[in-house]
Amino acid sequence: MHTGHESTTSGFKQKHLLDLHDITAENIITVLDTAVSFKNIFTRSIKKVPSLRGKTVCNLFFEPSTRTRISFELAAKRLSADVINFNAQTSSLSKGESLIDTAKTLLAMNADIIIMRHSSPGAAHFLAHRLPVHIVNAGDGSHAHPTQALLDIFTIREKLGYIEGLNILIVGDILHSRVARSNIQGLRKLGAHVSVCGPSTLIPAHIEQLGVTVFYDLDQALEQCDVINVLRIQLERQQQGLFPSLREYSLLFGLTAERLERAQKGNKKILVLHPGPMNRGIEISSEVADSAQSVITEQVTNGIAVRMAVLYLLCGQGTVPDTVE
Ligand code: CP
Repeated sequence: MHTGHESTTSGFKQKHLLDLHDITAENIITVLDTAVSFKNIFTRSIKKVPSLRGKTVCNLFFEPSTRTRISFELAAKRLSADVINFNAQTSSLSKGESLIDTAKTLLAMNADIIIMRHSSPGAAHFLAHRLPVHIVNAGDGSHAHPTQALLDIFTIREKLGYIEGLNILIVGDILHSRVARSNIQGLRKLGAHVSVCGPSTLIPAHIEQLGVTVFYDLDQALEQCDVINVLRIQLERQQQGLFPSLREYSLLFGLTAERLERAQKGNKKILVLHPGPMNRGIEISSEVADSAQSVITEQVTNGIAVRMAVLYLLCGQGTVPDTVE
């Protein structure tokens, strides 16, 4: 994460949000606490504050997205910003315009914040080094997805009250997952014990160096688990021979009600997260996804509050959100 340009609130001094590698635990807590204030306005009849009035937010998405793009748009609108939605398919990119020229064009239209999703790891860093505008990484290849991790952490803290000391298990394609990487970084900074589990072909070599425990057996991994974050299995990985069949994956690593039941002793209930989109019946059964211990739809709602907090802390001005009428 780059610094060098001050926002106006709470000692949060980040110009960009590119990943969770360099962010401090204090800044993560500031994002979470600010998001709590913004979530409070969701129950009001007018779900809007003027914190980004006069600012322009541009959604620059080069990859498909439902949750991230829509929630950033809604977050910016609830902060009273003007919003531009850039569609890569219908843009001049198809005429050969480069990423940097596309971004400079948006800058010439006075964009204050560019939110970018791109298939190339490092794409958000590339723009951040070249443009005098706030950049938020909305997912860059298999590298980072910081706002997804922040909303996951927000949801866990909201449900359980704390993060430090929790045993949090991330299951699935860890090798290609920007969500896993950002969650590991953020959760470890807040003192959680993080484990990962998946087929050996989908676990990166030397991942223990990130301070996580590795399991290859889901039932064993679930024994010590307070929270499980189930990742989408990327179906194209099967064509690459990284696991033999969806049926086998589902049998060994799918989260079913029976598996959860076996792992939960006494009153213990494991909190279930999934960043979406889900492959029901593969990495997670519908029974689990729709159960009382699943917080998957709450993650989506919380994503709006967390993204409001990020936009506000990077570029907002004036009073703290819960004093704004
Ligand atoms: N979790 C997530 O990033 O979802 P989208 O791809 O729909 O934005």
